[in-house]
Amino acid sequence: MFDISSRELAEAYHQADVELLKTKKPQVYDFQIVSSTGKNKSVIFNKAIFTDQAGEVAGIIGVIQDITEMKQAQEYLQKVNEEIIDTQKEVIYTLGEIIETRSQEAAKHVVRVAEYSHLIGLKYGLNQEDAMLLKIAAPMHDIGKIGIPDHILNKPGPLTREEFDCIKTHTTIGYNIMKKSSHKILKIAGIIALSHHERWDGTGYPQGIAGEQINVFSRIVSVADVFDAVSHKRCYKEAWPLHQVRHYLVEQCGKMFDPRVITLFLDNWEEILMIRSEYSDASS
Ligand SMILES: [Fe+2]
Ligand SMILES: [Fe+2]
Repeated sequence: MFDISSRELAEAYHQADVELLKTKKPQVYDFQIVSSTGKNKSVIFNKAIFTDQAGEVAGIIGVIQDITEMKQAQEYLQKVNEEIIDTQKEVIYTLGEIIETRSQEAAKHVVRVAEYSHLIGLKYGLNQEDAMLLKIAAPMHDIGKIGIPDHILNKPGPLTREEFDCIKTHTTIGYNIMKKSSHKILKIAGIIALSHHERWDGTGYPQGIAGEQINVFSRIVSVADVFDAVSHKRCYKEAWPLHQVRHYLVEQCGKMFDPRVITLFLDNWEEILMIRSEYSDASS
């Protein structure tokens, strides 16, 4: 016999009988109680009716289980799982930041791109899981720059054709790094790395694909990335005023960018600006 009797439990036990007789459906109750020895316990009880040969209710059968240890084990596993996920996220963000720092991007660029992408992803109609995958994968959009020599990546003046061709390969380099992974997040990161410089009108790179041929995650990251780049100061340029940034997005709607993504970006301008200031480079 368990030392788990309590007034609350007794009442629920009785209530289950009433429900059971009314609905004839098995009842399952999950409980937190304090045992007679003062310990917190998790209890589950199941109740069902049994019938005689004529199909009439002949009685009720009930089983109470003390699942305290099982619950504790589950909670522990969940904590470990969350810890692993948090660590993975941090590693991914750090990787993205390393790349962006090397190419002299602003400190919080990848965090802001992740946040804008998440917001627009949800507004676009992605489900919660896909929007979260997009958020985690977005910081790695330029991971392929790891394979571009410093003297080209950070050249202050205009690039020659050959140098620009070399820069363009950061898309395929990034994709080739990620494509071997069997993990969903890294696979998505690979797709974003490959196609975040494609353009809606088909004049982008590396494949020159157009419209909805371009993965939706890449179409979203593309707007978030460019918006953040032009609206912040870099070593080679000043930040554009916000009205000019907005004008540029409108101008590039249907050319560089997916019109639907641009509409959502402009319709949610206030929220975008809130993310921009929350994760400003001055904040820690
Ligand atoms: Fe890029
Ligand atoms: Fe970027």
